[in-house]
Amino acid sequence: MILTHIAACSENRIIGTQGDLPWDLPEDMKFFRDTTKGHIMIMGRKTFDSFKGKALPKRFHIVITREPEKFSDFPSTESSPVVFVKTLEEAIALAKANTTTWPEEVFIIGGGEIYKQSLPYANKIYLTLIHREFKGDTYYPEIDENVFKLTNRRDVELPIPFSFLTYFRK
Ligand SMILES: NC(=O)c1ccc[n+]([C@@H]2O[C@H](COP(=O)([O-])OP(=O)(O)OC[C@H]3O[C@@H](n4cnc5c(N)ncnc54)[C@H](OP(=O)(O)O)[C@@H]3O)[C@@H](O)[C@H]2O)c1
Repeated sequence: MILTHIAACSENRIIGTQGDLPWDLPEDMKFFRDTTKGHIMIMGRKTFDSFKGKALPKRFHIVITREPEKFSDFPSTESSPVVFVKTLEEAIALAKANTTTWPEEVFIIGGGEIYKQSLPYANKIYLTLIHREFKGDTYYPEIDENVFKLTNRRDVELPIPFSFLTYFRK
């Protein structure tokens, strides 16, 4: 299993504000959709809430919450399963067990709490770095360049300058 963070942050590491994204960047949203389609995604309960109660099509959702029993009625389908688990370790084990039928690359899609706790387990990071400062309440952790090597960078200028960065664990 390859565990990959996929995140977008500003120069001041902001990823979210009041339960939502601080920006509207259609090209980054398309990158997120294209990259995660057909894959297992691990997320925190607040990030799942930001989907407004709807699972994303053709993805296996593993949602981490201290109260999974609250979600026992949540609808889960074969093409878009949604499973609630109590710990990050349980989420990773469940993802691994499902890579027999789902792809090897499993995405951690946030938010701030889950990125921070799971960074030590990540093999790879797709980071969209937005070259502005934003106000917000949720952060992406610092990437230690002694641990992760930047292997790819694609710059985009519009509507605001940002870069698609890829890091691999050394
Ligand atoms: N820019 C990006 O790339 C990006 C990506 C994703 C999200 N976001 C933004 O980030 C924000 C949400 O991030 P967040 O940090 O507030 O929340 P989060 O990480 O999405 O979810 C936090 C929740 O996860 C559960 N949780 C966390 N650690 C746990 C643990 N060790 N064991 C069991 N459960 C645990 C808890 O759920 P319970 O409270 O249910 O117990 C906790 O309240 C939103 O603004 C969202 O839009 C941005």
